[in-house]
Amino acid sequence: MRPLWRLMSGLVLLWAAMVRMTAQQAQDRPVPPPWAFTVNTPPPTGAAPMAPAAPDPTPRSVPGSERQFTLAQTRDAFNPPDWHPAGHPPMPPSVAQGRRPDMRACGFCHLTNGQGRPENASLAGLPAAYILQQMADFKSGARRSSEPKMGPPAAMIADARAATDAEAREAAEYFAAVPYRPWVRVVERAEVPRTRIAGWMHVPTDGAEPLGARIIEMPEDLPRTELRDGASGFVAYVPPGSISRGERLVTTGGGGRTVACGTCHGPDLKGLGPVPPLAGRSPSYTVRQLFDLQQGARRGPWSALMTEAVRQLTIDDMIAIAAYTASRTP
Ligand code: HEC
Ligand code: HEC
Repeated sequence: MRPLWRLMSGLVLLWAAMVRMTAQQAQDRPVPPPWAFTVNTPPPTGAAPMAPAAPDPTPRSVPGSERQFTLAQTRDAFNPPDWHPAGHPPMPPSVAQGRRPDMRACGFCHLTNGQGRPENASLAGLPAAYILQQMADFKSGARRSSEPKMGPPAAMIADARAATDAEAREAAEYFAAVPYRPWVRVVERAEVPRTRIAGWMHVPTDGAEPLGARIIEMPEDLPRTELRDGASGFVAYVPPGSISRGERLVTTGGGGRTVACGTCHGPDLKGLGPVPPLAGRSPSYTVRQLFDLQQGARRGPWSALMTEAVRQLTIDDMIAIAAYTASRTP
């Protein structure tokens, strides 16, 4: 009886020590920056529940397109609006319709031309082999988000799990063949429009506020973005001086703080073999990935190649790096 009792109290002590250690680690772990890992602002408490709106039959249109869609059609995850069909090759079924009930169309979130939005990713012009590896990593659980409350990455994981190998391949080949066009205007600014997060995205409310150590990325034209217009891009406000600080880190490694990125991502950051391009891509997306790679939320078979690049980075470094990479011409 006695040795068993001793063993059990030992186990209890060990368990208590482990709980303390995990709590300590959780404390040391940096918080995912909420301006990059966007979580919708909850509605004010006590707000009256919204009455279900009657379907709005008004046809909508966007500049440069002959097509018209109702609001409901622009929100159809299994047949997203393709405003500018001449701007991309014919879409395979996985991109245009997905497959009910489990796999939404890739074009719903990433837009039919793969230009993407800050809360997801631009897929246009990524190497097909890279896209396939990421699909496999989402599926296996090797690629997650540091912010589980952020809806879109969780939805991405569900869609990757549902996709068959053939569907992932046709989508990868499609997006790899669509050229990525300049999409994010990067502006250094100390004061920015005040925003709240709705639809997982920053939208302006009223007035202005100091930017501080953040990147605030928002639609150039909110109504067009809400209609999923693949020809209306984004503006990203970055701290004054961040682009040149980022340039030093990216091109030289900043004296041992990181490593020069061009060796793998290509001299103009336009990608090299299966290594993805960084030039002109959403800076909030880039910060999320640097953070996820550093914190181990993203640890696919290729992620180890990024270990040295991210190990010592502070959030300020990530902001500067992303400001610079996003400001480059894709
Ligand atoms: C519900 C929205 C949604 C749908 C539908 C969706 N994705 Fe995604 N996807 C995302 C989000 C969000 C991310 C970024 C995750 C993050 O920030 O970590 C992402 C990221 C990716 C990436 C990683 C890009 C990179 O640069 O590493 C690939 C590849 C990808 N998606 C492919 C697809 C394919 C192929 C489909 C269709 C089969 C698809 N996605 C459908 C939301 C979606
Ligand atoms: C030794 C090669 C190597 C170097 C050096 C390197 N990278 Fe990477 N990088 C990769 C690989 C490979 C991936 C894909 C990782 C994965 O699949 O998880 C990647 C992924 C990324 C991603 C995610 C891209 C996306 O579309 O999701 C970002 C952002 C990134 N790198 C930024 C950088 C920056 C910034 C530097 C320099 C400070 C850098 N990398 C240096 C090889 C490298």
